[in-house]
Amino acid sequence: MERLQHEEFTSIVFFTGAGMSAESGVPTYRGKGGIWKDYDYEEYACQDAFERDPDKVLEFHRIRRRSVLLCQPHEGHRVIASIPEAGIVTQNIDGMHQRAGSEEVIELHGSLWRLRCPECGFRKEDFGEVYEKKCSECGGRLRPDIIWFGDMLDPLVMQNASTLIKNCDLFISIGTSGTVWPAAGYPDLAKRSGAYCIEINPEPSGATAYDRVIEGSAGEVLPKLFH
Ligand code: OAD
Repeated sequence: MERLQHEEFTSIVFFTGAGMSAESGVPTYRGKGGIWKDYDYEEYACQDAFERDPDKVLEFHRIRRRSVLLCQPHEGHRVIASIPEAGIVTQNIDGMHQRAGSEEVIELHGSLWRLRCPECGFRKEDFGEVYEKKCSECGGRLRPDIIWFGDMLDPLVMQNASTLIKNCDLFISIGTSGTVWPAAGYPDLAKRSGAYCIEINPEPSGATAYDRVIEGSAGEVLPKLFH
């Protein structure tokens, strides 16, 4: 595979989805073995479910956290971390980019490793075996700081992501089916803003924004493309 002359670009954005972590062993959401095939999001990933049965929802996320901790970042994550000047916009909540050494990561859909209080807006990191339940500021019920179905994305996070994407000249999408909005619109946004757009995916999304589609996995393609 031809190495990408990425030094010729002044502003790179990596845009990642669940497929980025697939080779680490973290399941994707859709397709074979996808999380939403085994778990009904209406029971595990929405505010209504949390209000009905918070312990059930927290247990689902606790199990996810434990399984993510058994996985390790792969070479593809490390390639991205080796270009610190590049921006990272991820839909993933697993923290894998950070574990590979990336410091600045825009997490569109929140994080498995953060809690927030819906009452007072307090947020805190949480890496414990069991989720902390009570807000230390107001006594409200803490919930995982994750965008569940029906939740609004954080406007500031969205603004930061779109500013980065509008100003990039190389946009590399990795491992996303492009089905969840607003993230699904980011390849078009990059294209409209004049960026050269690449997709890396063993089953390409079919989005028309891409100038180059590389049919392959994140862990295999990224090292070849950049080293
Ligand atoms: P999906 O599960 O929808 O799509 C995963 C994509 O990764 C598919 O296009 C696969 O072909 C691709 N893929 C699989 N293995 C890969 C590999 N080794 N290398 C590269 N690509 C690979 O995941 P997302 O698009 O991330 O939201 O899903 C978007 C959102 O939907 C998630 O953030 C989540 C979910 O509901 C929330 O939880 C809010």
